[in-house]
Amino acid sequence: MARFEFEYTVIDNKADLSREERELVEQAFDAAAQLSYAPYSSFKVGAAVLLENGTIVPGSNQENAAFPASICAERVALSAVSVLHPGAKIRSIAVAYQKDNLSEAMAHTVLSPCGTCRQSIAEYTARQKQPIALLLCSATGPVYRINNAMDLLPFSFGAEML
Ligand code: THU
Repeated sequence: MARFEFEYTVIDNKADLSREERELVEQAFDAAAQLSYAPYSSFKVGAAVLLENGTIVPGSNQENAAFPASICAERVALSAVSVLHPGAKIRSIAVAYQKDNLSEAMAHTVLSPCGTCRQSIAEYTARQKQPIALLLCSATGPVYRINNAMDLLPFSFGAEML
């Protein structure tokens, strides 16, 4: 039987993040609170992309009355990197969300990128030929650190197939 496993770090206290990671996480929360356009779901998502040169690029979900035309925070941030910092390499992406009336359990649940965003992150990983780390945030609980976003997309489809 073949088996797929990966390791990730659960950081229960934000004080245990590095200073750089803490800043990235804060910017993801700020993007969710201030930049999200989510009138339909009221689920506000923020992303913050850390480039190799230390620049942080935010993103937020942008919904549309025609629901499928909505775009997730992660892909908004990645597209911003492409046009504002062409060729820049990405070190990590923090993702956070804000939602009213969260249960205690939900407030401790981290947000994990949707399948389409995972595929987009895979494309950027392939383009830059180096892994992208993820910091997945819950509202008031832990942050998960995943060193290589590709771990979330095993058996992925990629350019090598074409
Ligand atoms: N959303 C994101 O922006 N990122 C994710 O990783 C998951 C979902 C957005 C899309 C939509 O605007 C709202 O959250 C509810 O699905």
